[in-house]
Amino acid sequence: MSEIKKIAILTGGGDCPGLNPVIRAVVKTAIERYGLEVVGIKRGYYGLYHKYFSPLTVEMVDEILTEGGTILQSSNKDNLFIYPMRDENGEIVKDENGKIVYHDVSDVAVENLKEAGIDALFILGGDGTLTSGRDFARKGVKVVAIPKTIDNDLACTDYTFGFDTAVATVSESIDRLRTTTRSHDRISVVEVMGRGAGWLTLHGGIAGGADAILLPEIPFDLTKVAEKIKKDRANGKNYQIVAVAEGAKEKDGEAVILKVREDSPDPIRLGGIANVVADKLEEMTGFEARATILGHTQRGGSPTGHDRILSTRYGNAAVKLAMEEGIFGHMVVLKGNEISHVSLEEVIGQKTKNVTPDDPYVVLAKDIGICFGD
Ligand code: F6P
Repeated sequence: MSEIKKIAILTGGGDCPGLNPVIRAVVKTAIERYGLEVVGIKRGYYGLYHKYFSPLTVEMVDEILTEGGTILQSSNKDNLFIYPMRDENGEIVKDENGKIVYHDVSDVAVENLKEAGIDALFILGGDGTLTSGRDFARKGVKVVAIPKTIDNDLACTDYTFGFDTAVATVSESIDRLRTTTRSHDRISVVEVMGRGAGWLTLHGGIAGGADAILLPEIPFDLTKVAEKIKKDRANGKNYQIVAVAEGAKEKDGEAVILKVREDSPDPIRLGGIANVVADKLEEMTGFEARATILGHTQRGGSPTGHDRILSTRYGNAAVKLAMEEGIFGHMVVLKGNEISHVSLEEVIGQKTKNVTPDDPYVVLAKDIGICFGD
């Protein structure tokens, strides 16, 4: 008999499509199959610290399969191991040099779980959220992790949920841009999210039929892209689509930073490279170029069928891992078409997963004439 009677779920970091289907699968498996009690923790680790706990029932999650976002809400700036101190008015405390003062409040969170009688914590997140997950596991919390992010950059798993939906959004956005770009003989430069990883741009660019794909992992030379555009124009193609990752950079250049969020454990927000690329390509080719930054549209929308199934499999497997095998401190992963699990120590111990220049999808794209500017 398992000693697990009551579990809690939290969603951390940037939201993505598929979080709700995972919540639904965890709740349904836990209640229908194992008769457990389930608690939802609102607003990620912030809610764990402030005890934003409330019961979750099968009826509450039945309809959320198709909904984007997370019914539990999320936060991407509440690392309880390095938590900004606040004064009695709720203002962040800074030292004499204007630097934020941090302290470790993770023990409060552990106590909160104990006090609520929660035996295991299911954490849905990307590398930042799961680094804290690993640290809670080290403190003895029974953690089960489920890999989330549109960036698909988490180590040890082939795919995170949310990625497939974001690829569909990128390719659909390019479809919409194609007709207007073609009607005006323009170049459209489309900026795609992904932080330092190019997976979303690579897959979205191929799916959307981009002429050039510029990735963080393959620094680019715009004269090569301009040459490709001029050659295509000479051959009769009157418009071009360039997909550029928000973290992409020119050879010997730097990534373009949109803003620095001082209060976030991961403070850099990328954005703006599409404008730089569009301006330079217009100058180099003489053809009008426009930039479109897809931004947070890529995190929204109803999950694709693929993501609904993957999320359901992940949620179900996570509960089974805890109940059938009694394994904690692990993350469920997808390898090929099989779900298995890997310890959080191993996942977080590795660098994030990046595109390599010999990735089969890069080779595929080059084989069909897509330019990477390298
Ligand atoms: O990690 C997911 C992601 O959407 C990245 O692709 C992007 O760089 C970042 O989050 C944006 O974060 P925020 O929502 O804080 O602007």
